[in-house]
Formats: sequence, structure tokens, C-alpha cells
Amino acid sequence: MEDEEQRVISPRPRPEDGGLALTLRPRTMGEFPGQEEVKERLGIFIQAARDRGESLDHVLLYGPPGLGKTTLAHVIANELNVGIRITSGPAIERPGDLAAILTNLADRDVLFIDEIHRLNRTVEEVLYPAMEDYALDIIIGKGPSARTLRLDLPRFTLVGATTRAGMLTAPMRDRFGVISRLEYYAVEELEHIVRRSAAILGIQIDDAGAHEIARRSRGTPRIANRVLKRVRDYAQVRGNGVIDRQTAGEGLDLLGVDALGLDKTDRGLLEAIVGKFDGGPVGVESLAAGLSEEVETIEDFYEPYLIQIGFLQRTPRGRVVTRTGYQYLGVEPPANGQRGRGEPTEGERDKPGPQSRLF
Ligand SMILES: Nc1ncnc2c1ncn2[C@@H]1O[C@H](COP(=O)(O)OP(=O)(O)OP(=O)(O)O)[C@@H](O)[C@H]1O
Ligand SMILES: [Mg+2]
Repeated sequence: MEDEEQRVISPRPRPEDGGLALTLRPRTMGEFPGQEEVKERLGIFIQAARDRGESLDHVLLYGPPGLGKTTLAHVIANELNVGIRITSGPAIERPGDLAAILTNLADRDVLFIDEIHRLNRTVEEVLYPAMEDYALDIIIGKGPSARTLRLDLPRFTLVGATTRAGMLTAPMRDRFGVISRLEYYAVEELEHIVRRSAAILGIQIDDAGAHEIARRSRGTPRIANRVLKRVRDYAQVRGNGVIDRQTAGEGLDLLGVDALGLDKTDRGLLEAIVGKFDGGPVGVESLAAGLSEEVETIEDFYEPYLIQIGFLQRTPRGRVVTRTGYQYLGVEPPANGQRGRGEPTEGERDKPGPQSRLF
């Protein structure tokens, strides 16, 4: 399969996003288009905490990559008018690392832990009392003479982010007062984001051009911003520098992104299930082996958007290409009778995948 690193529409950060991502990142709730429900809930809690002069409850943000979890963590700190300390699950290797971070926080500060599902168990156990009682239990000495010393911590707010809420341990999850799932953005919301980014970067774009980029950006601001930049180059070299529907469409075609925002990686995945596994159900491990890919890459980066648009279904027995998925490929779906094995049963159809089952 095409190297995920090379995909223009990869939801993962790419080196070229670098400074751009920071320039385009909204800093306040007001500047942050979309995610209305999440913003409304958070806004209320933030205001209440601010009015009482207390720290905000711990917040867990989860959802697919590139939708704004990290951005929102910064917005939260900004709206609370407090400092933010940024780290990630894999970066905190030992309890001592966490203790050093926690003891250096100021009162009401935000501690942002990205990829929080990747914290190791011993670190997690130090984090529990810190979250619950704002205390750190330190063990001094060894063996029978060992004793525990309790250190008071500032009243901080932990903001955790993960693409894999299902991998969080139950005790960890229970310690968050606010749990919010970020959803893919609607086309109109992405249009708004594209126009906002274009204005910041001094790019000329008309409404139809913004719409074309928005509808091909997979509901993901990170992708919309990246595509905008690429299409600007195309408009500059092949057009008159203004992005309209035609230059946006041609630019995206040239990048291998079709009218639905799908590329050959998406088609490759669907075709593999249809060609090698009769349309499914196929377990993700077999699929990964069939595509010579990592299970995590498929689960985190390839399939979420295909599931979102209804081309792929995650059933308890594995992944299944849907009728619309077949239509997209231009392949005749198997007749109903034969399909018995592949199509999920009524009962299975609405069952959420493993990721959302916990919430
Ligand atoms: N609502 C938004 N409006 C405008 N731009 C946004 C919005 N949300 C995200 N972005 C842009 O998209 C980029 C990706 O957002 P962010 O890094 O916050 O995503 P994430 O959910 O943390 O992704 P990951 O799971 O990969 O960590 C940001 O650099 C920001 O510029
Ligand atoms: Mg992030």
C-alpha cells in the first residue's frame, strides 16, 4: 500500500504542517468553529470554575486524529487564563517524571497529557491520587522501614487526549469529570475553517473554492489546512492565484484525492476486503496481514473515515464492506443470499465498535 507518510490526506501530522499548524490554531472558543456540543459543555464548566476561582474538573477529549484535541486543550487553558504544561503518555516513563511535572504546576494550571492511553501502569497509579486528592504519595526507604509521605499538590486540571478511548483503564476513565468526544466536522464547518485559514495566510479563495476543499477534506481541519496550502500552490502556478472551484478541484485531482476525499489507500483497503476476503467480515489482524500494514495504522488512520461515511462497517465478526462501499468501487455486491456471511445481522449492525463501546 502507499506509504501512509506520503499521503496528502493523512490525518496524522506531517512535517510540512509544522509552523502552519500553530499559526492556524484557534486560541479561544470564539475562534474555534465546529464541535458545538463539546464547546457548549466545556464553556459552562469553564465559566463556572472561573467564577468560583476553582480549578476545572479533569477533562478527557477523545476522537479521531486531527480534529482539534490538542487545540482545545490550549483553548481551555487560555479561557481559564492559566498556564499549560504539555506532555504525553509515552514521555512520562517513571513515577518520578510525573512527580516532577506535578510539583512544578501552579494552582489551577492545565496539565495536558496527549496519548494518555499510553501511560504505563506505575505512572497511572501515581496519577490517581493526584487527580482525586491533589496529593502525591511518595515512598521513602525500602523494605520493612519504608514509609509513605503525602505531598500536597496544586489544584490542577488534567486534560487528557486520546484517539483510543477504549484503551483507557476503567479507573483512569472514572477520574475525569468531563468526557467529550470530538466528531468529524460538517462540510459547512470546514468551509468556515478554510476561509479563516485563507484569511490568516493571505490566500484568495472564493466560496465555491472553499466548499470544494471542505468537502474533500474528510471532516478533518488538519487535512483541510494542508490541502488549502497545496491548492494555493496549484492556483499560483496554473491559474491566476485565486482559488475557485475549478482550481481547487484540479489541484485535488492532481494530488490523487477524489470528489469524496478518498485516495488510493482508501480504495486499496476496500478492494482488499472485497478481493481477498469476499467483502468481509474479516478480522483486523487478517486484514493487516493482507495489506502488510500495522493493525494500529488501519484502526487509527485508515478505517475511521471509511466507517464514518458508511463504506465500511465494524461488526463483532470483523470488517465488512457495505453496499455503498461496493457502489463506490463500481463492483457488483454479492447477491443477498450469498451475502449472508458478510453482511452483519440486524442485531450486529448497530453495535458500536470496540472503541465506542465503553462510552
Ligand atoms: N476547530 C478548528 N478550527 C480551525 N482549525 C482547527 C480546528 N481544529 C483543529 N484545527 C487545526 O487542525 C490542526 C490539528 O488539530 P489538533 O492538533 O488539535 O488535532 P488533534 O485532535 O490533537 O490530533 P491528534 O489526534 O493527531 O493529536 C491544528 O493545527 C489546527 O490548526
Ligand atoms: Mg493532538
